[in-house]
Amino acid sequence: MPDTSPVMIADVDATYQPTQNERLRQGIVSALRKFASADLRLEMQRDYETRVQPALLTKNAAPKDWRDVDAAMTSEASYRFYSVMRYNAQEMVWHSVQDPVERGLPQMIEAAERIAATRPTGGSLRLNPDFEVPRYVAGIDVHLIPGSYDWPGNGSHIAQGAVVSHGAAVFYASMPNLRGIGGGVGESIARWLKASRPDFKPRRMLDIATGIGRNLFPYIGIFADVEAHGLDVAAPGLRYGHAIAERDGLTVHFSQQSADRIDYPDGHFDLIVSSFFFHEVPVKTTQQILNECHRLLAPGGIMVHMELPPEKMLDPWDNFRWNWDTANNNEPNYTLYRSQDPAKLCAAAGFDPARAFEMHIPNYETFGAANFAKFVRGEMPAPAHAMGGWYVFGAEKAG
Ligand SMILES: C[S@@+](CC[C@H](N)C(=O)[O-])C[C@H]1O[C@@H](n2cnc3c(N)ncnc32)[C@H](O)[C@@H]1O
Repeated sequence: MPDTSPVMIADVDATYQPTQNERLRQGIVSALRKFASADLRLEMQRDYETRVQPALLTKNAAPKDWRDVDAAMTSEASYRFYSVMRYNAQEMVWHSVQDPVERGLPQMIEAAERIAATRPTGGSLRLNPDFEVPRYVAGIDVHLIPGSYDWPGNGSHIAQGAVVSHGAAVFYASMPNLRGIGGGVGESIARWLKASRPDFKPRRMLDIATGIGRNLFPYIGIFADVEAHGLDVAAPGLRYGHAIAERDGLTVHFSQQSADRIDYPDGHFDLIVSSFFFHEVPVKTTQQILNECHRLLAPGGIMVHMELPPEKMLDPWDNFRWNWDTANNNEPNYTLYRSQDPAKLCAAAGFDPARAFEMHIPNYETFGAANFAKFVRGEMPAPAHAMGGWYVFGAEKAG
């Protein structure tokens, strides 16, 4: 007789059990991060507007762009205090979750391996042991994550997936308007697509640079029957994401590949999305990725990428403060990425400019259902990026 008993799905996170002291520390780190990145940033801005900028104006040296602001601010005490606090708080975020992840690592690995072998929901995990992770991911501690996304602690490395997941929870705990990594971006874009295009019913979708899959998962609930695929260069996040998806009954197909060279056939997807991704890759790769999106989309398909707002949209001050991460948060491509024009990149990839868009979408959870519906009807604007809204760009492929 075949075994028809229900498959027990292990919870890959069951062993993540911070002690009371560790939880207290995480709370303090979270508050410190918010204090540095929001409160001290506003204090620095006040210093600029009330002291530094007026002094420049009296010398007839109004800042023309973010470089002029940068030159005026980097030796100021307000900037240095902000930077040092923010840098240290960022490091502490990851350190505050490493010990509890490490303690439960053997069981975590075992659970993930069991899930990958049994595939309870029919999802899949396609890893490539010969895959060469690009140096811009493997060669630096991106976002100051010790070991970046890819640290190969042992043969079944999954730790970095758990560190990114739990670290993000600490990162966002004091900033409810920014609940993006927990799936807020995916949920907001999916709800916007569904409400604004009632006839759009994607059969297959792809999240490029899916990480641990969090901003992919919400699409599955919102677009019934969509076949969901997520790819990334880093195996630990894919392992962790796959185990979480199976635990939560979500069928997702994860694969390890680079977004600029994807192995699916032409026209395979109706929907391609990404979040928090393009600013992490070298500029020449950005165009190759969009070329791939154009190739992979079926006629009538849509791509939507959530990213940092480009330099062309913001004033010198805001460009200066967004570009902070380039020199201070191990994101070497950040400023150069932002200097590009997403609309031009989409056109160069073959998308019709008349079918391209760039806009802000409210974070659904922050804005609430009623306000979100007003936004979709054009009766209410979306908040600025990271202030309760997300900047997105994209295009529809001609049908
Ligand atoms: C900031 S994370 C964002 C993850 C996810 N999209 C989210 O919203 O949580 C950036 C991700 O890009 C991945 N990545 C970097 N370069 C890549 C490439 N060329 N192809 C695919 N993934 C890449 C990293 O491994 C990392 O998981």
